[in-house]
Amino acid sequence: MVNIGLLGLGTVGTGIVQIIEDRKNYLQKLIGTEINISKILIRDMNKKRRIGIHEDKLTTDFSEIVGDQDIDIIIEVMGGLEEAYVYIREALNRGKHVVTANKAVVAKHLEELTFLAREKNKAFLYEASVGGGIPIIKQLKEQANLNNIQEIKGILNGTSNFLLTKMIEEDLDFKEALKMSQKLGYAEADPTDDIEGYDTRRKLRILTTIGFKDRVKEESILCQGISSIKTIDIQNIKSMDCTIKLLGTATLKDNKYYALVEPVIIKKNSYFGKVDYATNLVSFVGNKVGELRFYGEGAGSFPTANAILSDVIDIILKNYHKNYSLESNDLDNINKLFQGRY
Ligand code: NDP
Ligand code: HSE
Repeated sequence: MVNIGLLGLGTVGTGIVQIIEDRKNYLQKLIGTEINISKILIRDMNKKRRIGIHEDKLTTDFSEIVGDQDIDIIIEVMGGLEEAYVYIREALNRGKHVVTANKAVVAKHLEELTFLAREKNKAFLYEASVGGGIPIIKQLKEQANLNNIQEIKGILNGTSNFLLTKMIEEDLDFKEALKMSQKLGYAEADPTDDIEGYDTRRKLRILTTIGFKDRVKEESILCQGISSIKTIDIQNIKSMDCTIKLLGTATLKDNKYYALVEPVIIKKNSYFGKVDYATNLVSFVGNKVGELRFYGEGAGSFPTANAILSDVIDIILKNYHKNYSLESNDLDNINKLFQGRY
């Protein structure tokens, strides 16, 4: 059994528990043992939960989780900056693998936590921190080994894209659209970072640091959000058959990078113009592979939980399942699917 300590049981944490439950039998077969969420850190013991969780699993005391010798992997989906960072660092120091969706922590401490994990021979993975359910980090890491990455571009914030889509498509006003995105679980508890572009800037900092293999600092990325966009601007943009998107763009030229986050007016029928609601689109250009585009749900319970769990499965397969072979596993399943059909 692989025991996991889960920090947070909100939008993403709940999705993680649900997917594990839903895929229980399949995952057990895949990894040869059960994935068990053995303890969950929460803030409020009296809160009504969306899913049934045995009370014994819940705790408000992080030391109960990090001190538990049976827990090998810690998933951090509690959000915030300082406390989450301290917990992640302590978990790595105590020899746990860590998976997180926390872009604030990753953007601020990426290098330190990566080196700490390496020193401890543990994994520190953060696929869910950029693009929700889109598998972008792993791909970018792989392609950056084979290519010089020359450009990274994306609609990286679901909330602001949702807001802009609602304003353009349904003539909704800013406040109404924001309320809807909070209800759907896209927006952060405090949506300032979503609206002012800071969330996009953090994600761009993470992607550029991986892609350009250089430490791109958040402060060096120019940033303008969408909060000053007025109804009259929207009317003008629509009259030009255009739309407006909050784009994060970074280019590397002559060993110098240029990175900025800003709302951009683009043609409605362009690739980026067609990306609506909470969907994200990330593209990068490698000097060998050319342009690759990644499109999908950039936020929300299941997509984000899915990204977290793909990191968890990578860790388990690499560290706990020595005989695992993707080919044999796939063939096994394919044989089953087609049994008796030939
Ligand atoms: P929520 O606010 O929905 O959930 C946070 C959870 O963490 C709650 O269960 C809360 O406990 C618990 N928690 C928060 N602070 C503490 C603390 N100090 N001590 C103990 N428990 C704590 O957040 P989300 O699930 O939406 O987001 C989690 C993380 O994932 C964030 O870093 C976010 O940026 C990131 N993320 C979120 C996405 C999304 O679509 N929501 C997408 C991509 C990334 P309690 O329930 O008791 O209040
Ligand atoms: N608030 C973020 C967004 C969540 O809207 O994109 C996903 O990182």
